[in-house]
Amino acid sequence: MPKTVLMCPPTFFDVREPKNPYMGLPVDRVRAQQQWNHLRRALEDAGLKVEVIDPVEDLDDMVFAANQAFVGRHERLGNFIVPSRMRHASRHKEVAFFVDWFRQRGYKIIDLDLKGEFLEGHGDLLWHPDHARIWAAYGFRSTRGGVEKFAAAMQDLGFPVMPLQLVDEHCYHLDTCLCPLNDEAALIYPGAFSIASLQTLRASWKRIHELTADESRQFMGNGIVVNGRFITPQLTENLQQILNREGLNPVVIDTSEFEKSGGSAFCMKAFIE
Ligand code: ARG
Repeated sequence: MPKTVLMCPPTFFDVREPKNPYMGLPVDRVRAQQQWNHLRRALEDAGLKVEVIDPVEDLDDMVFAANQAFVGRHERLGNFIVPSRMRHASRHKEVAFFVDWFRQRGYKIIDLDLKGEFLEGHGDLLWHPDHARIWAAYGFRSTRGGVEKFAAAMQDLGFPVMPLQLVDEHCYHLDTCLCPLNDEAALIYPGAFSIASLQTLRASWKRIHELTADESRQFMGNGIVVNGRFITPQLTENLQQILNREGLNPVVIDTSEFEKSGGSAFCMKAFIE
């Protein structure tokens, strides 16, 4: 179980250009800061240490600290990151600040030659809970070619990569529609995946629990599993039952300001250790 997460305060958070179907309404930065503080406290209450990277003016999406790098640990190599290549030009500059942050802390940087391709960190790349493989999605943000280059690099380290194709623009990142709950069970929104990818998921997990379209659009698939808790922006009867079955306790944290940008709890942090 990871012990530390990295977050970025929403000091300069804003909704400017629409990068996904959720973006349109103006944000209330005071409320956003309060919600961010609550999420931070919920993570600390769950036993995590929270590290913070300095926010940068004009980088309005930097608060989504899950996207700028893929973070991992390898037996021989130690801690490493794979820097992202973000699809939207307005997010390109975020990556260098995260790379510097990780470099200063001794992380190896695995730079892929992503020219012409995109790869968006833990938005689309999720560790299986046992860290034996990685789920990697393409379709809206990361490209198939980006995922292939990532898979080749991870293969060299002994981590198999399971590619998944996303087909619903409301689930433009994998972390909106696949949430691993433990080694055996995952929460998914089935409508987000191609038929073949859905088959792969059903064949790979012992238990697949399904969210409805509405639940997934309310970011209930973007929760954080930590020390027996499930931090979620909302709770329905269906989700409550799923969590009961998997022995997780819901912790509801309002993330409505960040949902106006198409993100919620999971997107706002990266597990770093
Ligand atoms: N506004 C951000 C974007 O569209 C939201 C990113 C949400 N992050 C995530 N991991 N789903 O890029």
